[in-house]
Amino acid sequence: MDYDLIIIGSGPAGYVAAVHAAKLGLKTAVVEKSEYLGGTCLNVGCIPSKALLSSSEHFHYAEHGFSKHGIKIKGIEVDIPEMMKRKDKVVDSLRKGIEFLFKANKIDRINGLGSLEGANSVSVSSEDGAKTYTTKNILLATGSVPVSLPGIDIDGTHIVTSDQAIAFDSIPKSLIIIGAGAIGLELGSVWSRLGSQVEIIEFLPKVAAGFDEEISKTLQKMFEKQGLKFHLNTKVQSVKAAKKGVSVTAMQEAKEKSFEAEKVLMAVGRKPFTEGLGLEKAGVAMTDRGRIQVDGNWKTSVDSIYAVGDVIDGPMLAHKAEAEGIAVVERMVGQAGSVNAALIPNVVYTNPEAASSGLTEEAAKEQKIPYRVGKYQFLNNGRAKAVDQTDGFVKLLAHKETDKLLGAHIIASNASELIAECVSVMEFSGSAEDLARTIHAHPTMAEVIKEAAHSLH
Ligand code: NAI
Repeated sequence: MDYDLIIIGSGPAGYVAAVHAAKLGLKTAVVEKSEYLGGTCLNVGCIPSKALLSSSEHFHYAEHGFSKHGIKIKGIEVDIPEMMKRKDKVVDSLRKGIEFLFKANKIDRINGLGSLEGANSVSVSSEDGAKTYTTKNILLATGSVPVSLPGIDIDGTHIVTSDQAIAFDSIPKSLIIIGAGAIGLELGSVWSRLGSQVEIIEFLPKVAAGFDEEISKTLQKMFEKQGLKFHLNTKVQSVKAAKKGVSVTAMQEAKEKSFEAEKVLMAVGRKPFTEGLGLEKAGVAMTDRGRIQVDGNWKTSVDSIYAVGDVIDGPMLAHKAEAEGIAVVERMVGQAGSVNAALIPNVVYTNPEAASSGLTEEAAKEQKIPYRVGKYQFLNNGRAKAVDQTDGFVKLLAHKETDKLLGAHIIASNASELIAECVSVMEFSGSAEDLARTIHAHPTMAEVIKEAAHSLH
């Protein structure tokens, strides 16, 4: 055998698994079709979007917030090529980081499109031709790609996906976004802050649908105040190139509506990327929902082939993929790696951010779990006032009888960081009282978590 483990895909699932496997002593190779390591998250997803969210937030705050601090500046301008250059530099330095990790851990990088030849062999085709490698185990970590709606062609210029919307060379005057999920809200915020008129069309009656109802409603109001326009309960039917951009037709409560904009961003979800992977040839079974079927060890229907990340069931999130990447490798070597699917945090990186983990209030009701709610606003917090970030609240759910912390839902400028504490407490099956009696430094925004916990008692 050439290898102990061949991993197909170098995103957060694949590269994290590779480093862990190498550290556990497995002779490991990673097959990647792109010239860059890091997958969607690093190259066209999480990282570049966060770079742009940060740049656009600075611009917005310079325009609207600096004067409150007694800082006067004149003639603020956006330099899109410079902003994109910075984003590319961030991405590039992280790509080099993964290359370094591969070298340091003696992981072979094989360039080309990987395809299953059988239970223990992978063929890799590239410009240099095709080559077959043999291996004890195979890990499929090929990620996902954006989906479109039936009959709508993504032309990459006027009708785009997030791949292009993180790299516009100028600020579109108007932008219609289809889908008020994480991508729609984050990229909608970026371009709206930079000056685009943004309208978001959403099929469901709420934005950020996976979140606690109260979080979704509050977020929507906050975004509307920032200038985003929402059309909820509206189902897009067609998107066509028009004279000056794009026209969209949609059904809103049995009425046809039309919209026009310079560009349209499709943000209606993603699907597993399994094209050319040879799943059928190797006999790898799929679920009814079109994802690769795995068991509790992340093993597919073929004994030596495993799969993790966006190609299998569960939320398409980088941190879920990473956690699975670690756990699957541990299972391969007989260790007991695990992933607690119930506590995977969910974050929208807007301003304020929304972050959530554990049970929502709706889920607690549905599952007939007796609960109590504790809530506290950032408006009452010293640090939030000092840094001018008073929007939002912490909402905690605890079991009515045992006080076990069941869920945490936060809207705050730094909710993505604050949620980690709540996830830890829930991971250790802690109570709201544990959280309330934990001493939090003063003044910090984390004190709002403590206050929300206190309010439960
Ligand atoms: P999403 O599944 O989060 O949201 C898509 C939205 O489009 C849904 O609310 C859906 O109701 C709506 N929609 C579907 N068909 C429609 C139609 N015909 N008309 C109007 N609305 C329609 O998908 P999104 O935002 O594209 O993200 C893709 C994946 O990437 C998700 O799994 C997401 O969690 C992940 N992601 C996560 C981020 C984060 O963690 N911050 C950031 C970006 C993406």
